[in-house]
Amino acid sequence: MTVRTDILRRAAAVALCVAAAACGTTPPPGPERGAELFETCVPCHGESGEGNAKIEAPAIAGLPQWYIEAQLTAFQNGWRGKHPDDLPGLRMRPMALTLNREGDIASVAEHVAGLEPPYPPSTLHNGNAGAGAERYNAVCVACHGADGRGNELLHAPPLVQLDDWYLVHELQDFKMGARGAHPEDTWGASMRVNTLALDEQAMADVVAYIQTLR
Ligand code: HEC
Ligand code: HEC
Repeated sequence: MTVRTDILRRAAAVALCVAAAACGTTPPPGPERGAELFETCVPCHGESGEGNAKIEAPAIAGLPQWYIEAQLTAFQNGWRGKHPDDLPGLRMRPMALTLNREGDIASVAEHVAGLEPPYPPSTLHNGNAGAGAERYNAVCVACHGADGRGNELLHAPPLVQLDDWYLVHELQDFKMGARGAHPEDTWGASMRVNTLALDEQAMADVVAYIQTLR
């Protein structure tokens, strides 16, 4: 069995057990339920939510609760994780769909938001941070902030604590319409327009700059 199928099987088994409450009584919405649900995320996102590059599962620890809730809802709605070329998104969407009891999304989001952000080390070395700085400060800064820590009012998440490979992948997803293209996804659309003019090098450059903001 490959590492990937093993991980996917373990994830599916835990999800089944939690979703069906087959392993005991289900706690009410809140921290205990959040911790229980998080067990279903661990096979891919890791014990501390630090992510696993091998299966393209990003670091999620310490993202703001409002953003995690919005993204889990976006996966459930099929605004993310439905495009046939978005393999990581296709792996995540069924997991979001298991959060089907009232309060599940808020409970697990609060748990993940309370974990320490990991600031995973940079892995890409093809970007020019100087060129990226120009673009970032002309475009991205308006929503993600000069420090890359996001802006809740504009629904823009922090970027500094994320994996560089994941940032590039999301820019590609937005550009190809795997994210931010659904007519009801207005916040996603507000982000998507900013990617249409980015080619591969421009994406690498801007992500290289974001890595310097830590
Ligand atoms: C089968 C592996 C797998 C499991 C289990 C899993 N995820 Fe994911 N998750 C992924 C992948 C892969 C992505 C990246 C999707 C993409 O690239 O768009 C992701 C993305 C996410 C994102 C988006 C992060 C961002 O910055 O926008 C959130 C939030 C998330 N997962 C939360 C969870 C939670 C909470 C659980 C447990 C209930 C969970 N995931 C379980 C694989 C998984
Ligand atoms: C008009 C405001 C706005 C601007 C300008 C903007 N963004 Fe965003 N960005 C957002 C919003 C809102 C989201 C969350 C979208 C969603 O809910 O799916 C987002 C999400 C992202 C994500 C996904 C993060 C994750 O955790 O999955 C990345 C990467 C990103 N932006 C990078 C950039 C870069 C790079 C630029 C400049 C080229 C930029 N953004 C410009 C508003 C903006």
